[in-house]
Amino acid sequence: MNYEELMLRAITKAKEYKYTAKPNPVVGAIIVNENEIISEGYHEKYGENHAEVNAIKEAYNHQGKKFQSFSELTLICTLEPCSHVGKTGSCAKHIVKTGFKKVIIGAIDPNPKVAGQGIKILENNNIKVEVGLFEDLIQKQNKFFFYKHKNNKPYITVKIASSLDGKSHYENKKVFITSESSRNDVQKIRANYDAILTGGNTLRIDEPKMDARVDFTVNQAKKILLTSKSHNNELDFFNNASVDIFQINDLNKIINSYKDSEICSILVEAGPNLVNAFLNEGIVDELIVYTSTKILGEKGVNWFDGNNTIENYGFKLESSYKINTDTKEIFKKDE
Ligand SMILES: NC(=O)c1ccc[n+]([C@@H]2O[C@H](COP(=O)([O-])OP(=O)(O)OC[C@H]3O[C@@H](n4cnc5c(N)ncnc54)[C@H](OP(=O)(O)O)[C@@H]3O)[C@@H](O)[C@H]2O)c1
Repeated sequence: MNYEELMLRAITKAKEYKYTAKPNPVVGAIIVNENEIISEGYHEKYGENHAEVNAIKEAYNHQGKKFQSFSELTLICTLEPCSHVGKTGSCAKHIVKTGFKKVIIGAIDPNPKVAGQGIKILENNNIKVEVGLFEDLIQKQNKFFFYKHKNNKPYITVKIASSLDGKSHYENKKVFITSESSRNDVQKIRANYDAILTGGNTLRIDEPKMDARVDFTVNQAKKILLTSKSHNNELDFFNNASVDIFQINDLNKIINSYKDSEICSILVEAGPNLVNAFLNEGIVDELIVYTSTKILGEKGVNWFDGNNTIENYGFKLESSYKINTDTKEIFKKDE
């Protein structure tokens, strides 16, 4: 069997579960003998079976027909099987118990709870292990997951909508700056993130839902609210959502509190006070700016004070798109 082709197949098919597996990484597993694929499994939904477990479960249906013993089979998995007992038990131990003799792994799991321990369990039980096939693709596919464990903090993106004259809003008033198409684009962006963060003022003035309203199934993001004031629990923001509320304003402390959690990415959707506070802390990795052709004029509140610009915070323009009459720009840190 061509292991390269099989690993690419596992990577490609794992992608289908990007929105339902998050905040977990997407993972694919394929079980083969010398001539054919016996079974495949994917981590389809957060909290449910890991890919290897699904593939093994399916393989049992073919035992005695396509193969006799698991020792004849090779397991290919995109990410190192977990060693720790999380929600679903240790996959590495499950693989040992099943009786495989060979496992091909794409990338080592960067989670310090695993980080090579899964491989050790396999090797200590006389399983031949090969590691590194299309590692770069797997790291790219699970960009936030690898970033979080490398940097010990979630990936932070700030999204803002700006008028042509650089304003965010009118004081104490809800206003739509960008087109419906841009706002639909934001829904898709939300679907990518593990958490969405905002501040008390935006909650009180805009009363946003801040969920991803898309036409595909999503494990909705956790919501994070920063407020020192009391809030109305009846707002849509709190509907069917897990919400973390912080009454402190130390952003580093707040973000640090997620370093041992499953949250690998946070989308900040807030007004100028909170956005500038995030930028000043230097903890933002990416900025997405939607600019419309609207002018808010003197009554509008500036995104940035004086001559300050996104570039002054060390960002450079990475890409720019047109969405109807709006422009969408993505800025990343100038490394
Ligand atoms: N154009 C856009 O893209 C966009 C997006 C979102 C919001 N907005 C507009 O922005 C306006 C509100 O802007 P805003 O920045 O004042 O409100 P915000 O987004 O609610 O952020 C500021 C609030 O966050 C809380 N906070 C906690 N820690 C903080 C820190 N370290 N630094 C700053 N704030 C901290 C405070 O809430 P408490 O006061 O509750 O303690 C503070 O009032 C609204 O009118 C809304 O319509 C525009």
